[in-house]
Amino acid sequence: MISFVRGGVSFLNISMRVRFICYAFIFFLIFSLTAEGSQSIITLNYSPDMTVMEFDLLGISISVRQGSADLIEIRVNNRKKLNIIPRRKFECFSVPLEVGRNQINITAKKEDRIVDEVALDVFRRSDLVSKYEKPPAGFQKDYFHMKDRPQCAACHHVLEPTEADKNTIDIETFAAEISEYKAVVPSESTCYSCHRGMIAYQPFIHGPNFVWSCLSCHDPQAEPKYFIKYPDPELCYKCHVEQKQKRSTKKYFHAPFATNRCGICHNPHASESPYSLVEPTWLLCLTCHTEKGSGRHIVARYVSSNRHPTHGVPDPLRKGRELTCASCHNPHASDSPKFTTLGVESGFDMCMKCHIKVERQPLVPYQVP
Ligand code: HEC
Ligand code: HEC
Ligand code: HEC
Ligand code: HEC
Ligand code: HEC
Ligand code: HEC
Ligand code: HEC
Ligand code: HEC
Repeated sequence: MISFVRGGVSFLNISMRVRFICYAFIFFLIFSLTAEGSQSIITLNYSPDMTVMEFDLLGISISVRQGSADLIEIRVNNRKKLNIIPRRKFECFSVPLEVGRNQINITAKKEDRIVDEVALDVFRRSDLVSKYEKPPAGFQKDYFHMKDRPQCAACHHVLEPTEADKNTIDIETFAAEISEYKAVVPSESTCYSCHRGMIAYQPFIHGPNFVWSCLSCHDPQAEPKYFIKYPDPELCYKCHVEQKQKRSTKKYFHAPFATNRCGICHNPHASESPYSLVEPTWLLCLTCHTEKGSGRHIVARYVSSNRHPTHGVPDPLRKGRELTCASCHNPHASDSPKFTTLGVESGFDMCMKCHIKVERQPLVPYQVP
């Protein structure tokens, strides 16, 4: 009996063990398959999830397990932005960001089949659009340069500024010496290998960045490293002395200018628009003064016509430029309360700067000379 029970026990034990081993094996199989299928092909080295950015470009670095993917697709808010054929162990790229939330999906494919995907959520802040001024809960700025990055230093040999980064500029002579500046080799800048996308492809590059003089604004000794107190007009006035002087003589200040937020309207790096504006002038002004796009406000007081062009026609006074809000208003400050330009006292005198008075028909029709 005892031996039977014993035998029974040991029989049971064996079958349990076999089952356990079987389960364990199946478990291992499933685990290793899913691990292979969804985890280890792409490793995100940078950037972390839920970070906050100021401008329109985020640098990303991933590792791709060799031979396990033949295409990496990058989507931002479900729009395809980049395709990469992985060749190296590290793949680095930059993705354009929209204002607000950006869901970035990085998908690895092999023979058209998805083999792995990582996603990250990035918030691009904006002073211009009030609902995007503050990041949603949970998002925070990650300071890349606050940590040692031995992993990155393996290929990006220099992570600390070198002599080549110490180019300084003189705003007085900048325009005259522009041809000399063109001789600057961007790739000599430490910042170039990772940040070139920020300025290299934009038509309007802000002066200092033309010579990769990043350190004229970003101080490597600052805490956090390279930190700039933003918005800070003193930063701008360091070079734009003339702006500071102009300001001191004016009576009326435009609200966003009065609050010292140059960065609401200007991008300190580069832009699609002249004057390094974050949007072309007309769109920029309409972000806050939506109804003025109709042009109604210009003519309402003077003529029965119900609209005046505010863009899309040549500016009669500024050759080669388009008529915009800035043709009649100084975006910064002025001696008149509505910031009208052209050095006139009344709105009516202003009309006459561009229009020829027609005999006996002083107001209608207007003709532009
Ligand atoms: C194995 C070498 C290697 C490593 C390691 C590496 N990079 Fe790169 N990285 C490159 C190369 C090469 C380029 C230039 C890419 C090109 O020419 O297409 C580059 C470019 C970049 C760019 C600019 C991409 C663009 O197109 O705008 C960023 C940002 C970047 N790297 C960040 C990083 C970060 C962050 C790390 C560390 C987590 C890192 N890299 C580690 C090789 C590497
Ligand atoms: C190894 C690549 C690499 C190099 C080289 C590099 N950066 Fe960065 N930097 C990054 C990445 C990645 C970020 C964070 C995401 C982004 O801005 O794309 C960043 C962020 C920053 C920031 C925002 C604050 C922060 O720490 O996140 C500043 C400012 C900055 N870099 C300035 C510079 C300047 C100036 C240089 C040259 C002296 C430089 N960087 C060189 C990769 C690099
Ligand atoms: C005229 C001043 C100025 C110059 C020159 C300048 N920057 Fe900046 N940069 C700023 C300001 C202002 C910010 C916003 C700081 C903030 O709010 O954290 C900034 C932010 C950044 C950021 C953070 C990006 C983000 O979206 O959060 C990076 C990266 C950066 N600068 C890189 C550079 C590089 C590289 C250069 C040289 C090509 C450069 N900067 C030259 C003023 C400047
Ligand atoms: C290190 C010096 C320096 C600093 C700091 C600087 N700028 Fe500039 N900025 C320049 C130079 C140089 C030019 C090109 C001038 C030229 O072409 O004659 C320029 C041009 C501009 C222009 C275009 C002017 C034009 O007539 O086309 C604007 C707008 C501007 N800067 C705004 C700013 C703002 C806003 C800041 C602060 C965030 C700033 N700058 C900080 C040097 C600087
Ligand atoms: C409300 C938006 C806005 C703000 C805020 C703003 N600017 Fe401007 N700025 C503009 C526009 C628009 C132009 C182009 C005007 C034109 O088309 O004639 C301009 C032109 C400039 C120019 C070149 C033309 C000139 O007037 O000499 C400089 C330099 C400049 N801004 C610097 C600054 C500085 C410095 C600050 C912060 C103290 C600032 N801006 C704040 C909208 C703005
Ligand atoms: C970030 C928002 C913002 C932007 C961008 C902006 N403004 Fe303004 N603007 C204001 C605020 C706020 C006031 C003050 C509130 C008021 O009096 O209506 C103001 C006032 C004005 C006034 C005087 C209004 C009055 O009744 O006294 C004029 C004119 C004006 N802005 C023109 C412009 C032009 C031209 C542009 C584009 C170059 C522009 N604004 C861009 C926010 C903005
Ligand atoms: C052709 C000249 C001209 C253009 C272009 C123009 N404005 Fe005006 N704007 C005026 C005049 C004139 C006034 C009235 C000034 C006064 O009453 O002293 C005015 C007044 C304003 C006011 C004050 C509020 C009001 O209704 O009186 C704002 C804000 C304003 N303009 C914004 C804009 C914006 C934004 C644009 C571009 C979409 C623009 N303006 C284009 C001439 C112009
Ligand atoms: C900076 C130059 C400028 C100023 C200042 C200006 N205008 Fe004009 N105006 C124009 C231009 C450009 C046109 C378009 C002409 C065309 O379409 O060929 C125009 C067109 C008009 C029209 C015809 C609109 C239509 O229905 O097509 C009227 C009316 C008019 N302006 C009235 C005024 C009045 C009133 C003022 C003063 C408050 C004024 N303008 C100030 C440049 C200006």
